[in-house]
Amino acid sequence: MEYAHILSRIQDQILYVTINREHKLNALNKETLAELADVIVLASKSDQIRGVLLTGAGDKAFVAGADISEFSDYDSVEGEALARNGQKMVFDAIENCSKPVIAAINGFALGGGLELALACHIRIASEHAKMGLPEVTLGLIPGYGGTQRLTKIVGKGKAIEMITTGDMITAFQAEKIGLVNYVVAAAELIQKAEEILDKIRQRAPLAIAGAIKAVNSSLSSDVNGFEVEIEEFGKCFSTSDFKEGVAAFLEKRKPSFSGK
Ligand code: COA
Repeated sequence: MEYAHILSRIQDQILYVTINREHKLNALNKETLAELADVIVLASKSDQIRGVLLTGAGDKAFVAGADISEFSDYDSVEGEALARNGQKMVFDAIENCSKPVIAAINGFALGGGLELALACHIRIASEHAKMGLPEVTLGLIPGYGGTQRLTKIVGKGKAIEMITTGDMITAFQAEKIGLVNYVVAAAELIQKAEEILDKIRQRAPLAIAGAIKAVNSSLSSDVNGFEVEIEEFGKCFSTSDFKEGVAAFLEKRKPSFSGK
């Protein structure tokens, strides 16, 4: 897991991923996106990982957007390919990851940076974080799913306001509109994410994967979410974890889940 632009390590079944381009406010260049795509595949596949904590290096930025210098001379075809590949390989992959991914927003989350946080399952922000989708100030619109995910999370009115003004909002405003789950002091950011991940890693992994799939289905127009829930619910009954969970309850002990 040696990468050039991200730091990654596994500790206590949590995969810690830090976007590490502090001098460019962790802007997402092509290599960083490719490394994120790779590490998310690892997270989905590895039995050693029960959750992911994603943050940015330093205390100034989570991610200040896609790397503007890389697409300054693109035409429409290249622009469309950039958005399509990025969405599929990174943003959709995070949203569909079978392990919960928490964004610990440690500073600016702008453009592709906010879109990255939106693709995560849970968002926690430090008090000084600022969030926004400023693409229209560059003559662009969000291309990594921002128009879709922001609208689903905060509703159409707030999404249109943020996207068409390009204004940043504070962490507290973000909490008020449901964009982040919690706002905490900078020094407590990682600890808050770890608290949540620590609970998650004690639960049944296959049930968590099924729950993510079912919840994601509620926001998809391609599938019937209720039907997905019924199927995923049914699948749980054939897992060892279900037997262990019920046995532990009846025997008044803590369950020990194997993810099988
Ligand atoms: N792409 C490429 N480089 C970026 C970047 C981005 N999205 N965001 C910041 N950087 C770079 C700056 O160019 C600068 O590099 P340099 O030192 O080589 O000149 C470095 O990161 C520091 O940024 P700087 O702008 O000097 O910091 P600041 O404190 O004055 O401003 C921001 C911080 C976040 C307000 C400002 O960097 C900004 O507006 N960034 C772009 C945000 C954006 O539009 N994102 C959407 C992209 S689609």
